[in-house]
Amino acid sequence: MMNGNKTTFFTLFGATGDLTYRKLIPALYNLHSLDYLDKGFKILAIGRRNYTQQEYYDILRPWCEKFVRTGFNERVFDGFLSRIEYVQMRFDEVEDYQVLVERFKECPKSQHLYYLAVASSYFDVIASNLVESGCTALANTKQCVIEKPFGTSFSTAQELNDTLLKFFCEEEIYRIDHYLGKEMIQNLLAIRSENPILTPLWNDQLIDSIVVRALEEVGVESRGQYYDHFGAIKDMVQNHLFQIVSLLLMKPSSNLDERIANQNEIIEHLELYHQSEDDVILGQYEANQAVSDSLKGYKDEEHVDPNSKTETFVSLRTRVNLEPYKNIKVILQTGKRTHMRSTEVIINFKGHGALPNQLIIKISPDEGVYLRMNIKKPGPSHDVETVMMEYCQSCVYENRLNTPEAYERLLKAAILLDRSLFTPWEMVSSSWRVVDEWLDFIKTHQVPLLMYPAKTYGPTKVMEHINEDLQ
Ligand SMILES: NC(=O)c1ccc[n+]([C@@H]2O[C@H](COP(=O)([O-])OP(=O)(O)OC[C@H]3O[C@@H](n4cnc5c(N)ncnc54)[C@H](OP(=O)(O)O)[C@@H]3O)[C@@H](O)[C@H]2O)c1
Repeated sequence: MMNGNKTTFFTLFGATGDLTYRKLIPALYNLHSLDYLDKGFKILAIGRRNYTQQEYYDILRPWCEKFVRTGFNERVFDGFLSRIEYVQMRFDEVEDYQVLVERFKECPKSQHLYYLAVASSYFDVIASNLVESGCTALANTKQCVIEKPFGTSFSTAQELNDTLLKFFCEEEIYRIDHYLGKEMIQNLLAIRSENPILTPLWNDQLIDSIVVRALEEVGVESRGQYYDHFGAIKDMVQNHLFQIVSLLLMKPSSNLDERIANQNEIIEHLELYHQSEDDVILGQYEANQAVSDSLKGYKDEEHVDPNSKTETFVSLRTRVNLEPYKNIKVILQTGKRTHMRSTEVIINFKGHGALPNQLIIKISPDEGVYLRMNIKKPGPSHDVETVMMEYCQSCVYENRLNTPEAYERLLKAAILLDRSLFTPWEMVSSSWRVVDEWLDFIKTHQVPLLMYPAKTYGPTKVMEHINEDLQ
């Protein structure tokens, strides 16, 4: 058990949404099946559809059967369902919250975790209604867990934050960046600080470039409406890729406040490498009938403007303008509908006359650490060849089985009031400031949007850049 016998209300706004079915419910099932939830842990699943309890349970079943990590089991599923109550209400109508008030009154002074798995335009509405209706007054501890996106620019993020601060204090706001729940993201700091041989290498005398890459095979799927207003830079770079870069280069610290300040320092010093338009490549996928007739172009996706100028791929050549990293090229790349699904970090060391060594940290879906070394070719020749020293963590079945999914780790942390896996306002605000500046730059310099066929590695210019950067 996590906390003994206390009552926790996990109030889930958006309980009939995609995120709930695919990620949150399976993660909660896993926590239940591992006996991490207290007896008094209740899930109030809020939706506006007219479902009976049984109808809602019937919807949850196939999602659990398909997505739970710990194995689907009928008895465990029944126990899990006994924690869930479907509550039909409109979350934008304050009078509808009376049903929650009555429920909370049955167990006053309990832990209230409000999870907002809803469109960001509702974050402030729900926060305000929770307070106005009297729900929050019945809580012992209250937490507001918020999905991305947190704003669309620095000013809208600040506006949202100021509104939320009227109802919750900073310590009660848990901003999700699900990358922080990923096993190998957690591992980045351990790899750095637990391997003293790496410490002296972490500078621009020895590191030439760092590539942080998050490629997806899928297109926008059903999320065209959201994505078309965001694009790759706001959707992926501002949060996930900045998290990775800052964890890679920050001064490690075991103190949470210090860690946040150190991570923030890295983000604040991110800038385009040459301050030239050549630092940015923007792309958008188009149909690729050579591979498959069903591979639509981005503009033909559902809910996407047929004249859309939104980027679905970006490659940014940047630097962290701080000693001892100033001359390291930090390449940030992310794209949809590329040839493969892969999130990884590649650290390219300087050649100094030999073939450059590489340290590769694979984050997802494969997890592992790889080191590219040079050795003499076996046999009589004195030629040198490059080989890979490999540790594939996810290749081991037990590792896969024992590794919590990102959402499972994040939910467990939130339930335990552990804020270390959530993004503080400081970091959200500095990330948006940097991204706003880059987006202004892109606009002023009229960086072109290049087309790339679906299922390829982005615009061809990307390969040219990679070759240039690796020289
Ligand atoms: N899906 C993902 O993979 C993903 C990933 C990262 C972040 N996110 C973020 O997570 C949030 C939710 O995403 P999603 O994909 O789950 O969205 P979604 O599928 O559109 O679900 C939205 C939910 O809100 C409910 N809702 C809307 N208006 C309501 C109202 N007035 N009263 C009561 N319920 C109402 C919907 O109920 P109905 O069923 O009745 O419409 C539905 O349950 C968004 O902020 C998104 O950006 C999602």
